[in-house]
Amino acid sequence: MLYQLDYSSKATNEMMLSHLIGILRQARTKNKLSDVTGLLVFIDGMFLQVLEGEEGTVKDLMKKITEDTRHQDIKVIRGSNVEKLTFSNWEIAYTSPSAKKLAIWSGLDDTRTVEEILSSLKNDPEMVTELMVRLLEDIPNSEQHV
Ligand SMILES: Cc1cc2nc3c(=O)[nH]c(=O)nc-3n(C[C@H](O)[C@H](O)[C@H](O)COP(=O)(O)O)c2cc1C
Repeated sequence: MLYQLDYSSKATNEMMLSHLIGILRQARTKNKLSDVTGLLVFIDGMFLQVLEGEEGTVKDLMKKITEDTRHQDIKVIRGSNVEKLTFSNWEIAYTSPSAKKLAIWSGLDDTRTVEEILSSLKNDPEMVTELMVRLLEDIPNSEQHV
């Protein structure tokens, strides 16, 4: 059964681009082997990640990710079975839109901090689906291609 899981977290230390590249390389190499796809968003010290694949594989991976000391305050926003994958063309896509864009795409006013936006998503999982579509559409426009 296919499963999609979204979580948010906070980087433990200041995240240099080289650290982020390290995480993405590791994720992409390993996810390819286990047929996991998804998206990683990093804005203002906060991560939002979508993981999708076989239910057991995704849940096991999430356990590992939860133990990773490079981030903390890990909050699962939504975990559900899905009929098809959203990010099937990506091992792990990466994008870093502005906090303003993230707020607007989440149906919130653009003065919210990323932390506020992500915590409000937890109360409105439907909005996550909409946000994911926007994030995916925006990847080609993303200023930061990693
Ligand atoms: C924000 C963040 C996202 C991550 N995403 C993934 C991922 O998608 N896939 C993955 O295999 N590891 C990911 N990792 C790394 C895992 O936490 C962990 O280090 C890795 O799976 C270790 O695997 P190993 O113990 O088998 O070497 C991520 C780490 C962080 C901090």
